Amino acid sequence: MINRGRRLRRDENIRALVRETTLSPDDFILPIFVVEGENIKREISSLPGCYHYSLDRLHEIIEEVRDAKVRGVILFGIPKTKDCCGSEGFAKDGIVQKAVRKIKEIDSNIFVITDVCMCEYTDHGHCGILDGEYVDNDKTLEYLCKIAVSHAEAGADMVAPSDMMDGRVGYIREALDDNGYKNVSIMSYSAKYCSAFYGPFREAADSAPKFGDRKTYQMDPANRREALKEVEMDLEEGADIVMVKPALSYLDIIREVKDNTIVPVAAYSVSGEYAMVKAAAKAGLIDEERIVMEMLTSIKRAGADIIITYYAIYAAKKIRG
Ligand code: PBG
Repeated sequence: MINRGRRLRRDENIRALVRETTLSPDDFILPIFVVEGENIKREISSLPGCYHYSLDRLHEIIEEVRDAKVRGVILFGIPKTKDCCGSEGFAKDGIVQKAVRKIKEIDSNIFVITDVCMCEYTDHGHCGILDGEYVDNDKTLEYLCKIAVSHAEAGADMVAPSDMMDGRVGYIREALDDNGYKNVSIMSYSAKYCSAFYGPFREAADSAPKFGDRKTYQMDPANRREALKEVEMDLEEGADIVMVKPALSYLDIIREVKDNTIVPVAAYSVSGEYAMVKAAAKAGLIDEERIVMEMLTSIKRAGADIIITYYAIYAAKKIRG
């Protein structure tokens, strides 16, 4: 035997020297849920270890983010009222707009991304404006632009449209530029699949559709090449970063997108991925720390430059030791 693969696995020194993928706190973005009200830090039952924060307690999580050296957060808002066209989503004093200002006040160095979508703000729970029971694509675009511009106005560094309407990246880019926000970047949820892995999030954000499902706008989990088409359209329209979501069941898509683009690729390890690990760990079935690090490593190995994960602070702390 001339070749022995085990020579390079003999001890941690050589393993570290030949390691192809390493994680860094720089890789992560933490999702944060903000709510109206006062003195609220309430654990989200579907996402143990994650909380709803009111603005006056937002500093608690932002300080944790800063201490863990995580660079960015992505905000999701639970508004005080919902209506047919998601008015709170683009209100000047909407919950996300206020949260952006608050975070910049607490620490202007934290990179603030906002999720641009309508499902948390509409009374029907769909990601756009309805025409009967159909989500009207082009009408929705106007509203997404208002949301994105209002986030930029509040001080967001980047907006992340997650609605999956056609043409939204181009519309949002133009709206941002027209309003003087040419340096606010766009991370598009380009290949966002219609996934059951979003279940715990919909409870956290109270955003489940009241009827039907999201199959007419989110992608069919069976499709791979279509992801490249979505990515290509978004890049033509001016997306700075493209995202694949969910992550774990879509590692092949992450790799495909990585190999076919020259922009940074983000992956969203979604609520269902987090909740499954939490539940299995609680039941004593798995070693949470090792599972988390293995999952994140595999997402990065698949090609993700940025990983959005509810484990951002946890993993960043483990990496730094
Ligand atoms: C909004 C949005 C969703 C998620 C991110 N942005 C929910 C959905 O599309 O139903 C899911 C995030 C997660 O599950 O962690 N459209």
